[in-house]
Amino acid sequence: MALTQSDKLKQLVAAQQRGYSLAQSFYKDLDVYQAEVKNIFLKHWLYAGHVSQIPSSGDYFTVDFDTESVIVLRTAVGAVKAHLNLCRHRGSRICLDQSGSQKSLTCPYHAWSYNLDGELISARNMPDDFARSVNGLHHVNVALLGGLIFICLSNTPLSLDSLRHDLKQPFKLFGMNSMKLAEQKSYRILANWKLAVENYQECYHCAPSHPEFAQIHAMAKSPKVFQTAKVNFSQANQDNPKFMALNRYFDLAEKGQEGYQYDRNPLLPGALSGSVGGKPVAPLLGALQEYDGGASELMIGPLSYFLIYDDHMLGYRFLPVSVDECICEVSWFVEESAVQGQDYQLEQLTWLWDVTTQADKSIIMNNQKGVDSRFYQPGRLSEMESFQQSFLDWYLQTLV
Ligand code: FES
Ligand SMILES: [Fe+2]
Repeated sequence: MALTQSDKLKQLVAAQQRGYSLAQSFYKDLDVYQAEVKNIFLKHWLYAGHVSQIPSSGDYFTVDFDTESVIVLRTAVGAVKAHLNLCRHRGSRICLDQSGSQKSLTCPYHAWSYNLDGELISARNMPDDFARSVNGLHHVNVALLGGLIFICLSNTPLSLDSLRHDLKQPFKLFGMNSMKLAEQKSYRILANWKLAVENYQECYHCAPSHPEFAQIHAMAKSPKVFQTAKVNFSQANQDNPKFMALNRYFDLAEKGQEGYQYDRNPLLPGALSGSVGGKPVAPLLGALQEYDGGASELMIGPLSYFLIYDDHMLGYRFLPVSVDECICEVSWFVEESAVQGQDYQLEQLTWLWDVTTQADKSIIMNNQKGVDSRFYQPGRLSEMESFQQSFLDWYLQTLV
């Protein structure tokens, strides 16, 4: 008897040995990918963008992943809403540009028109029994975390209450409500999305692949050196609320809550920010009064990551395109009152993570090429890949 799709996935998961990289099928099999779409991409919250991208009524941007496209916009009364970019007539995409400003959303195919709330307001020459009221755009869940806009395509989205409660303090300190998006770059990676996420989650590759990063971040050192630096750093900053550590991303202890993780790590001595020589690159964020020589790692859901230096924040979003392609999108945030050219220079601000992400893109694509080989076998993970291992544990549980 042929195996059902679910039996096949269960067998794959059961055969996966802990402490090793994933078997080839996890990176190539379409049934695996479809299970990921259902159990991960459509269920979890995804960083969509920042409120500073849509300051006025009618401003919008689109977010595309897998086969889906979402329009995130500012409504007539100033609310942030999201709709599927999918016309209710015969299914055309409606917004073809990645961003813009519109008073209403008109489908380019036969000109059905929707207001910013997604209600169908005009459809020419339709039969008498056609009801406009039930042909509005599909609603997409939206949540604001500081100025960060998150979207979720599930009918029963995971709760963000626990995260909002736990992260109140660092959000306030870093002024998550008073940042603006300074720059955004997209890196198209011809590899399975997990190779990109796994790469982001381990720093075993940092020393050999990222000489620029390794000059600034203590994390690129051996686990022993890093742990000592981290303990000393935390002890020296005991009362600083930035130094809380939350590890709720993978444990799934609180059912129905979105996973998240927050931690503060030391930079190397003398470094204050993620820049050439670790020098400051922008005005301090939010309520901060001084640099402490650290950077915070924040994860929200499985695809959205943030790295918060004292004077700017990086957003990292992994968007799956198909089983063998994904996009890594990097966003740079600064304090909203900072003026480009005066308080910060884009080139200095973006240098470290542009050069680092370009290197990541190439190592991830080379990784996929090797994983595609008929001779590929899962390899043993190092001590510096323990966080990646936590992700893999969570992933295998979540897939089936
Ligand atoms: S598909 Fe949009 S109006 Fe026809
Ligand atoms: Fe990297």
